[in-house]
Amino acid sequence: MRGMTQYQTVEDGDVQLRDGTIKLHGPAAFEGMRKAGRLAAEILDALVPFVQPGVTTGQIDDLVREMTLDGGAVPATMGYRGFQHSCCTSINQVICHGIPGDRVLKDGDIINIDVTPLLDGWHGDSSRMYLVGDVPIKARRLVDVTYECLMIGIEQAKPGARLGDIGAAIQQHAERHRYGVVREFCGHGLGRLFHDAPEVVHAARAGTGPELRPGMFFTIEPMINLGKPGMKMLDDGWTAVTRDRSLSAQFEHSIGITETGCEIFTESPKGLHKPPY
Ligand code: MF3
Ligand code: CO
Ligand code: CO
Repeated sequence: MRGMTQYQTVEDGDVQLRDGTIKLHGPAAFEGMRKAGRLAAEILDALVPFVQPGVTTGQIDDLVREMTLDGGAVPATMGYRGFQHSCCTSINQVICHGIPGDRVLKDGDIINIDVTPLLDGWHGDSSRMYLVGDVPIKARRLVDVTYECLMIGIEQAKPGARLGDIGAAIQQHAERHRYGVVREFCGHGLGRLFHDAPEVVHAARAGTGPELRPGMFFTIEPMINLGKPGMKMLDDGWTAVTRDRSLSAQFEHSIGITETGCEIFTESPKGLHKPPY
């Protein structure tokens, strides 16, 4: 596989295609991603006081849309492959891509909110977990360890490392806690495109996969189940739930590989990195 990896240095203004090449971006692109990522993080920060018992996921979606538009961006998920909403709201056993609607948040729920403002042509993709009221310790520990998985993955992200080093570190940490790493969904390259090469798997062998080079932009977004790793897709074609109906958690950052390590584009300006907020 290694021999197949193709990199492409892209300049501002170049047409960028989903052709399987890994894009290597310059300083102007970093600046674009910084702004889009910051808006994503500000939206997730601003949601904190609203994520309470009694609120519906549809109301959260309305807030995300308003804040995205107020920030001069559009929600990249609106109209994406038929998705009609401004964010994904994934509660309890929902792994990802939960559809906002009439569901009322209740005491003890855990929820992932995933936003992707498209600002000046750049995608800032990030998600966090939120605790609704009093959440049992088992669920809070899952949320904590899932955040640790994301950050341990990010620690591997530096030039010369391989993409598989990220998944290996995440998998090792999750499985040490007897949690299951979801295999059906991955992180992804992004930038001008929402979902681009490479696929960033969250369970892998160290030393495998493409080499990380300065200028690569991608997400890391581990989905970790309290039980087995299996997934089942609901009939709506979007909502992915744990096969064993155990709880699932996820955090996501968009990052760029630098000369010395990586830059996190979607870090919380308010320090609201993980619950309790
Ligand atoms: N933001 C999600 C991701 O992390 C993608 C959501 S696509 C949608 O890649 F259509 F489900 F919204
Ligand atoms: Co993503
Ligand atoms: Co996302």
